[in-house]
Amino acid sequence: MRDAQPKTIFLKDYQVPDFLIEKTDLYFSLDEDKSVVTATLSLRRNPAATDQTAALVLHGQELVLLTVSIDGQALSDADYHCSSDSLTIQKVPDSFVLQCMTEIKPQENTSLEGLYKSNTMYCTQCEAEGFRKITYYLDRPDVMSVFTTTVEADKERYPVLLSNGNNVASGDKDNGRHWVKWDDPFKKPAYLFALVAGDLEYTEDHFTTQSGDDVTLRIFVEPKDLDKCAHAMSSLINSMRWDEDVYGREYDLSIFNIVAVDDFNMGAMENKSLNIFNTSCVLAKPETTTDAGFQRVEGVVAHEYFHNWSGNRVTCRDWFQLSLKEGFTVYRDAEFSADMGSRTVKRVEDVSLLRTVQFAEDGGPMAHPVRPESFMEISNFYTVTIYEKGAEVVRMIANLLGPEDFRKGTDLYFDRHDGQAVTCEDFVKAMEDAAGIDLTQFRRWYSQAGTPRVAVEGVYDAAAQSYSLTVEQHCPATPGQEQKQPFHIPMAMALLGQDGALPLHLDNTANAGLEMVVDITQARQTFVFNQVKEKPVPSLLRGFSAPVKLSFDYSRDDLLFLMSNDSDGFIRWDASQQLGVQVLNEMIAALQKGEEPTVDPRLITAYRSILQDESLDKAMVALMLKLPSEAYMTEISDDVDVHAIYNARTLARLTIAKQLEQELWQALRNNHCTEEYQPSALQIAQRSLKNTALAYLMLLDTQEALDAAVEQFDHANNMTDVLAAFNVILNSGFGMQKQRVLKLFYERWQHESLVVNQWFMAQAVCSVPGTLEHVKGLMSHPAFDLKNPNKVRALIGAFCGQNAVNFHQRDGAGYRFLADQIIALNSLNPQVASRLLGPLTKWKKYSEASRLLMKAELERIMAEPGLSSDVFEVVSKSLK
Ligand code: PHE
Ligand code: ZN
Repeated sequence: MRDAQPKTIFLKDYQVPDFLIEKTDLYFSLDEDKSVVTATLSLRRNPAATDQTAALVLHGQELVLLTVSIDGQALSDADYHCSSDSLTIQKVPDSFVLQCMTEIKPQENTSLEGLYKSNTMYCTQCEAEGFRKITYYLDRPDVMSVFTTTVEADKERYPVLLSNGNNVASGDKDNGRHWVKWDDPFKKPAYLFALVAGDLEYTEDHFTTQSGDDVTLRIFVEPKDLDKCAHAMSSLINSMRWDEDVYGREYDLSIFNIVAVDDFNMGAMENKSLNIFNTSCVLAKPETTTDAGFQRVEGVVAHEYFHNWSGNRVTCRDWFQLSLKEGFTVYRDAEFSADMGSRTVKRVEDVSLLRTVQFAEDGGPMAHPVRPESFMEISNFYTVTIYEKGAEVVRMIANLLGPEDFRKGTDLYFDRHDGQAVTCEDFVKAMEDAAGIDLTQFRRWYSQAGTPRVAVEGVYDAAAQSYSLTVEQHCPATPGQEQKQPFHIPMAMALLGQDGALPLHLDNTANAGLEMVVDITQARQTFVFNQVKEKPVPSLLRGFSAPVKLSFDYSRDDLLFLMSNDSDGFIRWDASQQLGVQVLNEMIAALQKGEEPTVDPRLITAYRSILQDESLDKAMVALMLKLPSEAYMTEISDDVDVHAIYNARTLARLTIAKQLEQELWQALRNNHCTEEYQPSALQIAQRSLKNTALAYLMLLDTQEALDAAVEQFDHANNMTDVLAAFNVILNSGFGMQKQRVLKLFYERWQHESLVVNQWFMAQAVCSVPGTLEHVKGLMSHPAFDLKNPNKVRALIGAFCGQNAVNFHQRDGAGYRFLADQIIALNSLNPQVASRLLGPLTKWKKYSEASRLLMKAELERIMAEPGLSSDVFEVVSKSLK
């Protein structure tokens, strides 16, 4: 909790640290009422610091300082000063050993930052600035030190004691306590420190590196979860092999541990050799985990593993450079997942997320560049912009360089900066140096916030056989950035003729093939293609080659043509989305005028041919049959009418179900998978198509559809199918079945916390009226716990973020509910509170009545005493 208004920190004020820490030796004595941490630090003045007489100022929060000494000499009260967030020692030698003994209370730490308890185990979370809640330290990523860590605790309760690096010594004490000493030979910043103590069991496997070294791999879990580790383990092994094959990166220690914890603010954390995971991102088995869950585990395990190079061996100089490790690592894990499963599906999923959530962030009050220039609370900047847009920026670089040069670039980057804390600029520079190209203008992607709009116009001149594309780019203002310079936008494109792609002769040059990348660099620019024998349909931004909003005035027939003819799966899907947007917008307009909305029959025809196209990947069929989501429709409109969007979409879905009933039944029946469950691309595709069909058919309210859903709910052998059936029954009008499945599902899974989260979520996102009251009721369900972030996200987060019609109910009760929860969470867990604010911060987009009610709730939060810096920053910026 802050005493004064939080300060804004600026990138331009960066200064190298005054001191360096050569060695860090930690001793933890863990006890039920209090824990004592003894830190012995070998410090010296940083020769690069400007002030060689500066006082030593260490970070520290919520610590009780017991003793402090320099070179063995205890300091007296007059020698140092403690504030609520620092320890200052005015006079220190140039090189010395500082020892601090501090007392902390992990069992009372609900922020889940620093050292805390999750169920019966102790664990840590130090990124970004949590280490300062463990001991006084230079808690900044450019201070890198080797660490030795001894953990001492009661042996019976905490038989497993873990930290970073290698286990080098252990022993018993005579009072029932024991200790283990760990040594991490790699220099690291404090944010990568980790410690775990608990009554855990593990599964073990091994990996032999390219160089022939053996690595022991262990996943530590609570005993009841031992049967859910296999998928994470095979994902880890696949990641290790992939990073060797694709990036030439080997693992560098003989041990790699993963620990699963129930209470965790984020997905997982890449602590050196001791990754700590939210149970939701590591545990998986077919009976309890959906296909999406399996894929998430694979992706997150890979992500954290890849950080060993992109993050740990080469780390960030300061937190403004966060995307250096996160954007790059997300790009790496996305490519890994694409290689493991279906490349097109992965791309479509990632683009969907970017275009809904990240574009919305870019258009809202928290918009910031991939490399922000300022922040109040760094925890607020673990955003889709840093992660997903950051990954798109790396993807553009990879595409601009091509695979060979990109690999040269990453080799150079890792080689040049191994063991260093560096900047986004260092990354770009390595790419330039390796490939011999100039990325000067491209760098604006790091410094300018906002989503560029790219308007393209095509003119065909039949006489000259030329086709010209005129491109205009413009980026709207974002907070603090009124004017933007043109971006370098690589636009992958093709020109499609009736019988396939046409050869490309840009500006009368030789045939560049059937696909090329044009570099858009100016505010307005024209590209002329020659020898174009017929009027083409342009295929633009293939593979989503840049994170922009592209507009081209396609006719519906053009879109239908792209949907069935483009060789790029992303474009086919995107064309189906654009068609869906046009149809829905027409219906929304009709609803708002009080007219009868109708569904353009061409949409139905298109869906029919997709359903009947045997050559299409089933996952693509499922994706293309989904209308643009409510979230996407919301993002692309300025004066959002939630209820009109919902009603138009629901009516369109019902019409599709009615008119394609036979085809949907066929899709349902033909995709029933009888083999043993595998989270393979093929099976996932089948289930996804089948369950898409089921959801449509249930809209018809027929006994036949209900029977199919109930049969699936009762007999499916995997959570994907069970949950799909559960969801459609909950959203239907069949009251009796609803009550039955609600009860059955809970009874069956009440001992599986992660499945109970799914149970909460399914109810929270239910679109039937009265859901808000139901959600409020569930908050006092014995399985709900406001201190557990997964529970909060499953119930409150899902209701407010994914159930627009109910959250935006007209009397504002949804907004009031959310504000109440944020106020409660502000003191329990500021990071979770701040993240939950998302839906309220977009208030300016909504039609007037909603807008005012939302704003009033933000003002109510703002007036609360004792706001955390996390919540303060988001609310105050939203109200500006
Ligand atoms: N660095 C983690 C990751 O993306 C995310 C994280 C941030 C986890 C902050 C905990 C706290 O891999
Ligand atoms: Zn990460």
